[in-house]
Order: sequence, then C-alpha cells, then structure tokens
Amino acid sequence: MTSPREPRVLAIESSCDETAAAVVVGPRVLSSVVSSQIEVHRPFGGIVPELASRHHVDAVLPVVREALSRASLRLDELDALAVTEGPGLVGALLVGVQVARGLALSTGLPLYGVHHMEGHLWSAFLGDDRAEARPFVPHVALLVSGGHTELVDVSGLGRYRMLGATRDDAAGEAFDKVGKMLGLPYPAGPVIDRLAKEGRPDAHAFPRAMADQDNFDFSFSGLKTALVQHVQRRGPPESRQALVDLCASFQAAVADVLVLKARRAVAHAGRGQLDIVGGVAANSGLRERATVAAAEDGFEVVLAPLRYCGDNAAMIAAAAAARITAGVAPRVDVHTAVALDDSRVALP
Ligand code: KG4
Ligand code: ZN
Repeated sequence: MTSPREPRVLAIESSCDETAAAVVVGPRVLSSVVSSQIEVHRPFGGIVPELASRHHVDAVLPVVREALSRASLRLDELDALAVTEGPGLVGALLVGVQVARGLALSTGLPLYGVHHMEGHLWSAFLGDDRAEARPFVPHVALLVSGGHTELVDVSGLGRYRMLGATRDDAAGEAFDKVGKMLGLPYPAGPVIDRLAKEGRPDAHAFPRAMADQDNFDFSFSGLKTALVQHVQRRGPPESRQALVDLCASFQAAVADVLVLKARRAVAHAGRGQLDIVGGVAANSGLRERATVAAAEDGFEVVLAPLRYCGDNAAMIAAAAAARITAGVAPRVDVHTAVALDDSRVALP
C-alpha cells in the first residue's frame, strides 16, 4: 500500500515586519522567501505599523512569485494555501490575508488561517535540503519572540496547554529595549548576542526574576530596570570591554530564567522533549544553556533551525499541512490578540 501524498502548501506571513512566502510538502520546505523591512524601521528604533503595511503591499506579490519559482511549482500544482491570521499588526495581517483570499478565489484552493505562534511551534519540525524533517512528538515548547514568552505543553495538533507566560515584557522585547538604551541598532537581540560572545556573563549579577517562584511565569521588566539603574549609576559603557560584559551579563540573566523555568516545565508535564522556537530561539546563550540542561536532566532539546527562528512562511505552511493531514476544515479568522491555547483548531 502506498502512503497518501503529503500536501503541497503555499503560505504567506505578514504579521509584523517580514513579508514572507514559502512552499512546503508536509513538513519539508521547498522554498522559503523572506523580505525583511528592518532597514525601513531601524531609523525609528522600532516598528512603525503604517510603514509595515505599505511595505507588505509592495513586497507580497514578488515574494509569492519567488517562492513558487524556487519551488518549481505552479499554483495549479498546489493542494492548499495558508496565511497567518494573527496575532500581529492588523494592517500588516490584512495584506497577507487579502492576497491569500484573492489567490484562493482565483484558484479554487482551500485556505487555512494559522495562528502565528502555532506556526513557530511547527518551525522545530521543518526539514529541507540541509536537514531532515522531524516527526511530531508530544513536548513542552518554549516560545520566545519579540511579542511572546510562553511555556506550552503541546500534546498534539490544536492541543496546547499554556503552562506559563511573561507577566510584562517578552524576552525579545527586553533585548530590544536594553539594546536601545545602550545605543545599539534595532533589533538589538542579534547584536547583543554577538557582543555577549566577547564578554563575561558573570561580570554583573543581574536579577533572575521569579526564579524562586513555583510557577512557569516570567518577568523581564525588573531586569530592564536593573540595567537602566546600572547605567545611571556608572554611566554608559565607555570601553568595548565594558559594553560586552554588560551584554553578556544581561543575556545570561535572560537565558538562565528561560532555561530554569523550561526544565521545570518539562519535568512537571512529564515530557521527554523541549522545543525552543521563535526569534529569541536563535540566541546562542539560550541554545547553549538549554543543551546543557537537557543533558543534565536527560530530556531531548530540539532547537528550531537558525534559518527558521525568525518570522517565515515555511512554519505557517507546515502547520497548515499538518491540519490538512489531520482532516481539519479550512477557515480563516483574522485576529490581533487571540492566545495560542484559545486558537480554535476544529479537529474532526
Ligand atoms: O519571532 P520573531 O522574528 O518575531 C516575532 O514574532 O516577534 O522575533 C523577533 C525578536 C526580536 O525581539 C529580536 O531582537 C529577537 O527576536 N532576536 C534575538 C536574536 N535574534 C532575534 N534575541 C536574542 N538573540 C538573538 N540571536
Ligand atoms: Zn514570530
């Protein structure tokens, strides 16, 4: 007996400041194109929603064409379309959703709306010409991005139990705000990561907020304040060594609490695997600490491939492919703030 063919899906992602399109066959990526707007927003030190929408309008069709062309597939060779339906900037989301609806209307293909964070969950399973796709196994996921910091028990498609989340800033937001204070360019996460490699993580003892509390929640605003006070007391770092030490000590404080709570969540949920996904999953300090913790505690850690940590459409397409395989009906609901565990995947 031959197994059924994996679905071929084209997805569009436009929830924030990347316009992305990708084609997958099941969890295997045939093409993934990301057009970043970082240069557009950098002078403002953060994302300007109006500018983001306008740039999505300009970029979306060329990006879709490029994704199809790199996958060597035509629209009529696909099984379905997918799009990020939220959360995100509403004007930005609407660009991707309307283009996807237009494509669905003209081709007759079914259209699946995917929760952005559910897409990030699926980034850990993606395969391509550089790595094998991973099979789904129940796991705990640490979702760390610019807008979210969450620990989720993932028992299957559409079965997401929120174990904990940040009470204030997201981890990526903390990196970006601290970076701004230190005069580093936006987004500061990757810059701090690079500088931290040269610094001493134990140069300054910054707080590990909520580490002693018996829950899976996080807080990063106290750490941010500790850095502001440090700079107010001692002045901005004057030497490169002072700057890299500050970056390394800050990064260590963030990564320590993320890993501390994540390993406790794995034990609490009784899972054998921790997946780390989202933009901040690219952080080298976090990746190192999580790898050490996994070896100590005896669970497997799956780090999203670096090329799929940031926003991309391949993860959205793969999450939609999983729905098709599970027999979920197509549906799109645009939303800006629905939590992952409230996202409705109507399992058959
Ligand atoms: O997932 P993502 O691309 O977009 C959102 O859904 O938010 O995450 C973007 C965030 C930004 O805050 C950025 O500074 C952070 O991820 N980031 C990093 C690194 N690379 C990206 N933070 C720390 N270390 C990195 N290497
Ligand atoms: Zn994201």
